Amino acid sequence: MDRIPSEVLNGVFIKHKGIYLDSDYTSPEIVDAIEHMETREGDVFLVTYPKSGTIWTQQIISLICNEGHRNGTENINNMTRMPWLEYNIDNVDFSSRPSPRFFSTHLPYYLMPRDLKYRKGKIIYVCRNPKDAMLSFYHFYKLKPNIKDTINWETFLEGFLSGKIFGGSWFGHVRGWYTHKEDFNILFVTYEEMKKDLRSAVLKICKFLDVNLDEKAVDTVVEKATFKNMKDDPLANYKFVPNSLLDQRKGNFLRKGIVGDWKNVMTVAQSEIFDKVYKEKMGDLPIKMLWDLNEETAS
Ligand code: A3P
Repeated sequence: MDRIPSEVLNGVFIKHKGIYLDSDYTSPEIVDAIEHMETREGDVFLVTYPKSGTIWTQQIISLICNEGHRNGTENINNMTRMPWLEYNIDNVDFSSRPSPRFFSTHLPYYLMPRDLKYRKGKIIYVCRNPKDAMLSFYHFYKLKPNIKDTINWETFLEGFLSGKIFGGSWFGHVRGWYTHKEDFNILFVTYEEMKKDLRSAVLKICKFLDVNLDEKAVDTVVEKATFKNMKDDPLANYKFVPNSLLDQRKGNFLRKGIVGDWKNVMTVAQSEIFDKVYKEKMGDLPIKMLWDLNEETAS
């Protein structure tokens, strides 16, 4: 696992303060400026490692916080509603946005706005079991036109395990956020708990955001946040992203949306190597990972 899989890095990703950034859409200067961004009490930051359920949670938050999104009277897509901090491709002026502001990011805890440490703003961190996140990521790489090389699964696995991949190390991201949780006003949610019981996850997020919805409104949020309905929702399915950025003629952003798909692809040997690395890097943390919805597997 020491070999650097250069195809995974592909030349467009630059290393900056421990993570790899897509240099076509951001820069070290942009990322460094985020640290000094002023946050407000009502701000909500959705934080994920890539492919962990970001756009799903964007949809849930948008539906919870905006009646117009629930009843279909508004026409704001989720990326416009919750722009990316470090990939601000539409050049949104964050400071002139009215409160409450919503943001999405893949940044590690140590690159976030400093104000958040004074609890000015809430963070929702969504974590997904890394085998499924890795498989989803592997397919996502194929949609990115600025990745020219064809990357095979074995090479991708090496890149993921060594953290030499867009976004950096899954292990470092989750570990960092988890072990620094006391520094922030943060709610942890897992992809798997959303899959198991979406309604309970929605209620948990409502409570954290101090939003009281009646039963019917909660039903609407749950209904509009299912995989099937999101796939057909032009405000939520990310088809609005141009092909030059994400070529969805090659596959859908909303691909399968299940837990345990890794079992269909990883060999037993690959899974064992993965488990070993997982144990080394995460074994001391009291995090329960759900690798499959049919088993209450904890590790
Ligand atoms: P798969 O590729 O395994 O299908 P992100 O938004 O962080 O990039 O994560 C993308 C993953 O979340 C994709 O996983 C996508 O299908 C899944 N996803 C998006 N919306 C979902 C939903 N409503 N239900 C389940 N999974 C969803």
